[in-house]
Amino acid sequence: MSEPYKVTYATLTADNEDLHTAYEAGVEVARGWLGAEISAPGDPAPGDPVDVTSPADPSVLVARVRAASPGAVDAAVDAARAAGRAWAATPWQERLPVLREVADLISERANELAALMTMEVGKNRLEALGDVEESAVFFRYYCDQVERNGGFEAAMEQLSATETTRSVLRPHGVWGVISPFNFPMALAAGPAAAALVAGNAVVLKPSVQGTHVAWKLYETMLEAGLPEGLMQILPGGDDVGKAVVAHPGLDGLTFTGSYAGGMSVMDAFRGDYPRPVITEMGGKNPTIVTASADLDAAAKGITRSIAGASGQKCSACSRVYVDASVHDELVQTLGKAVSEVVVGDPLERATFCGPVIDAEAVERFRAAVEHAREAGGTVVAGGEVLQGAEGHPGYFVQPTLISGLPADDELFTSELFVPLAVVAPVDGLDEALERANDTVFGLTAGLFAGEQDEIDRFLAGIEAGVVYVNRPAGATTGAWPGVQPFGGWKGSGSSGKAGGGLHYVQLFMREQSQTVVT
Ligand code: ALA
Repeated sequence: MSEPYKVTYATLTADNEDLHTAYEAGVEVARGWLGAEISAPGDPAPGDPVDVTSPADPSVLVARVRAASPGAVDAAVDAARAAGRAWAATPWQERLPVLREVADLISERANELAALMTMEVGKNRLEALGDVEESAVFFRYYCDQVERNGGFEAAMEQLSATETTRSVLRPHGVWGVISPFNFPMALAAGPAAAALVAGNAVVLKPSVQGTHVAWKLYETMLEAGLPEGLMQILPGGDDVGKAVVAHPGLDGLTFTGSYAGGMSVMDAFRGDYPRPVITEMGGKNPTIVTASADLDAAAKGITRSIAGASGQKCSACSRVYVDASVHDELVQTLGKAVSEVVVGDPLERATFCGPVIDAEAVERFRAAVEHAREAGGTVVAGGEVLQGAEGHPGYFVQPTLISGLPADDELFTSELFVPLAVVAPVDGLDEALERANDTVFGLTAGLFAGEQDEIDRFLAGIEAGVVYVNRPAGATTGAWPGVQPFGGWKGSGSSGKAGGGLHYVQLFMREQSQTVVT
């Protein structure tokens, strides 16, 4: 078995000098990688270079990405299929050491990979190290899952002396993995690791905004000794994503991204027969605060979940329902905590909230605040776009809390993917649950409450795949593989089985019932 799924990033407190120094040395290494030109390996006709710049400072060129040509997409699928056959025929006991080596190499390079991530997508050092460590843990955890389950082979009931049957989970073949910018390593590594441990080949199409980090993951996987051709990467934007989804040579697909993107992938990924498609989509994650709650703990946990990764987590908290009797007090405490979040250059030690990813996200933020004011809401904290202000050359906005909106306002239901939450009073837990569940989404949810009865009612009634009670470290965020299985209900995810959980690797396999008469 691998070492426990331990986390060092969480110990990155202000006084843990060693960890800070190691990350800062990683920044120097990662600076040497900036500006790399990236295209699909061997692509004879890649697209024109597209500059990926740092959202914290658009004058920093992180990579020049050349989109994969249609021919490269075909070649990647073909090569993956060829390599996948041999991999599927390799006993799982021989597959796992290679994948555990990937984990070890990621861990060894965590600081430089995290530093590159900070520059490419703007995550602070804590979030970026968490993303990289989570990637390594996905590989370890899924390897252990295969081992614990004996390679997912089991004897079935035997009804006669001569006939024996085994249930064997076998790989599908070639999996497409479409990954987002916000966890540019972990959300590529997680599905890819699961597909590979299950015996599949992988064709990865990363978000163009996280290409360089995904490329480093790809390089690390090759260096660990993955058989040639088994892992493919196709840089590029939506056109390449569409070509991957439309490709008849894929046997399965995972997509992590927006609700709209996920729904259209589910419709588009059709062939001559149904193929498995796993979508992980967005969230409009609520936190409920009851009259018996510790309001300081609530304010701390909610603030971390609003502003972590600048609100660009599908798990971010964006709605708060608080018992009317403590509404004003919570709004005051939470508003103070949100306004004290340090916004700035994500390479700086003190920064908690870096930039949002691009100008479009800034516009979404600006429009939401404007809408809130017009709809009669009060901006309790934040509300300003900082882009262009002194020390903020990139796409910076203030973490924001808004109160006083009508119950049917669209800010209670539409996902924004920026650090902005709305807070509303409710008349007890039943109303809170009703409003919390009243969206298409069902990803994460939090509760702060002092009464066991409230906790029980919340756990029984909330419609979400990942729920937390009384968690100041993150009201709705911070799931860890092997600890909190992470997957959405309703419009937040299609499979009903969660990443980093007990049943995820099996999604990448199909069952064969093998009866042999002797
Ligand atoms: N694992 C990430 C979180 O739970 C998405 O915040």
